[in-house]
Amino acid sequence: MCGIVGYTGYRDAFPVVVKGLKRLEYRGYDSAGIALHNQSLQVYKKMGKVADLEEHVVGKNIAGRTGIGHTRWATHGEPSDRNAHPHLSASGKLAMIHNGIIENYNQLKQELLQKGYQFISDTDTEVLLNFIDEIKENNHCSLEEAVRIALKRVTGAYVILLIEQDNPDTILAARKGSPLVIGVGKGEHFLGSDASPMLEYTKEVVYVNDYELAIIRPDELILKNLGNEVLTPYVQKLDIELAAIEKGGFDHFMLKEIFEQPQTIYDCLRGRLDAQKNKITLSGIEQYAKEICSANRIIMVACGTSWHAGLTAEYIFEECCRINVEVEYASEFRYRNPVIHPGDVIIAISQSGETADTLVAIENAKAKGAIILGVVNVVGSSIARISHAGAYTHAGPEIGVASTKAFTAQLAVLSMMALKIAQLRGTMPAERISYLLSELEEIPGKVQQILNDIAPIQSIAEKYAAARDFLYLGRGYNFPVALEGALKLKEISYIHAEGYPAAEMKHGPIALVDDQLPVVFVATRDSYHEKVISNMQEIKARKGKVIAVVSEGDETAISLSESAMIVPVCDEMLAPLLTVIPLQLLAYYIGVARGCDVDKPRNLAKSVTVE
Ligand code: G6P
Repeated sequence: MCGIVGYTGYRDAFPVVVKGLKRLEYRGYDSAGIALHNQSLQVYKKMGKVADLEEHVVGKNIAGRTGIGHTRWATHGEPSDRNAHPHLSASGKLAMIHNGIIENYNQLKQELLQKGYQFISDTDTEVLLNFIDEIKENNHCSLEEAVRIALKRVTGAYVILLIEQDNPDTILAARKGSPLVIGVGKGEHFLGSDASPMLEYTKEVVYVNDYELAIIRPDELILKNLGNEVLTPYVQKLDIELAAIEKGGFDHFMLKEIFEQPQTIYDCLRGRLDAQKNKITLSGIEQYAKEICSANRIIMVACGTSWHAGLTAEYIFEECCRINVEVEYASEFRYRNPVIHPGDVIIAISQSGETADTLVAIENAKAKGAIILGVVNVVGSSIARISHAGAYTHAGPEIGVASTKAFTAQLAVLSMMALKIAQLRGTMPAERISYLLSELEEIPGKVQQILNDIAPIQSIAEKYAAARDFLYLGRGYNFPVALEGALKLKEISYIHAEGYPAAEMKHGPIALVDDQLPVVFVATRDSYHEKVISNMQEIKARKGKVIAVVSEGDETAISLSESAMIVPVCDEMLAPLLTVIPLQLLAYYIGVARGCDVDKPRNLAKSVTVE
């Protein structure tokens, strides 16, 4: 959570940093602020979004070629101007921004209070800043040395950027547990929580690792560890284009990303899937083929929408690979001392690759001898780097806070993984694998077919936009899709929505059904179809409003629905790749109809780097 940006070079820092912050608003938007070195340190900050900060500085002096900026997702202290970053140290000589949580901040705060320090904000950040300030003043040492000493006392996660009154063109950065990328330009350097703030200036980047500290000047990048040893920065080339992080004519990133799915699923399959040759190339799986084939179980670890992808994959893996699969919320898994045997295979699923709970969960499992396979979207992210092997989802930058294209790309990768493992283990007839591979190859075209006719979904959205609650029901492969549909609606329209296995509905949620309740069935033709049809009848008998995602040509399901969203026919195992699309659109159009900021839903952040 929280986005950080830094710039030092020959340009005016303010516009570079502000543009970068706008690209990182997906990480939080409770407040925004910037500190500039302009003869002295100037700090401007404002509760609200980056646009509010821009308004706030109108008429003010925003010159300066070195600056750091922050967009906040509140943890310690409510969203307010006072708690916004950057913070200034008590001496007035240091300004700092922070992404993460300092867990022992209270202990440090007590020490500082005893020394007479006073605090303006409620943040853990201001505590760490003054802790550094105090060490620097007391020891008469450099800022770099003070930071090194301070960080040895700190528990928690952080990326910090500091600028200093007495060092006009220098930014000091340090990382543990939160992401930090440095962009290397000619006579200038950029910093960001991801590479988006620097894309139009440079394609050369350095991903900073945990326990590393960087001293950055226009012409110089010095990377060190906390033991003060100089490290050689590993400069990598980015292959993201600027267009990938712009709206491209769509009203919202979420809509753009929904519409990108035919391409993103295609990109994900490209070069890996060759249905004609019956071949799947996934080098990560091939590398660990022996271990995966002899594993007794696979554990999927993830959060949020990625967890729903894991749950769908459970059904697919068990069917294809005949192996026991468990699906775990990373936040629960990591804290309950799970039983892990050397050789267990963990699949970590994450769009950002930075979700703190998922990261720590796999670190713990790795230490116990598990093999970690990452299914990650952001190249070079922490989860990708810590995994033994894996497969990127190649969905491109996902900026809308509610995940859409990352989910379908995860499903595509996980389906390929399951089929590959089935081939290796010989657990599924070759003809069935071959059929599924050709079905998979047809998915991008079928998604496009759904997107070609969205008018019915728009009118359903208009009709039900005022509803208070929604129920989503599905069985088998479509049960996790019901959960994901409900989550999408909750996230962006703030309507209360619950997902349930359709049969389980009789054990509680049916009590909610009346003539006001929209009930969304994910009811494509599959092995459970007759049962789902009965469940639809049960809701109808109680006057619930049945909305259904149905297979093309399924007149029974269509006639039972007050409103139907039609998807092309496909094998039931791959149906979630299609059935989720109308649910994403339904949530989107309901959110828009209710006037919600669908790209930046309240209280949420895209990358949850706090535990
Ligand atoms: C946040 C996002 C969700 C995402 C979840 C897991 O809650 O808002 O869209 O599914 O984190 O994130 P990850 O990056 O690990 O997939």
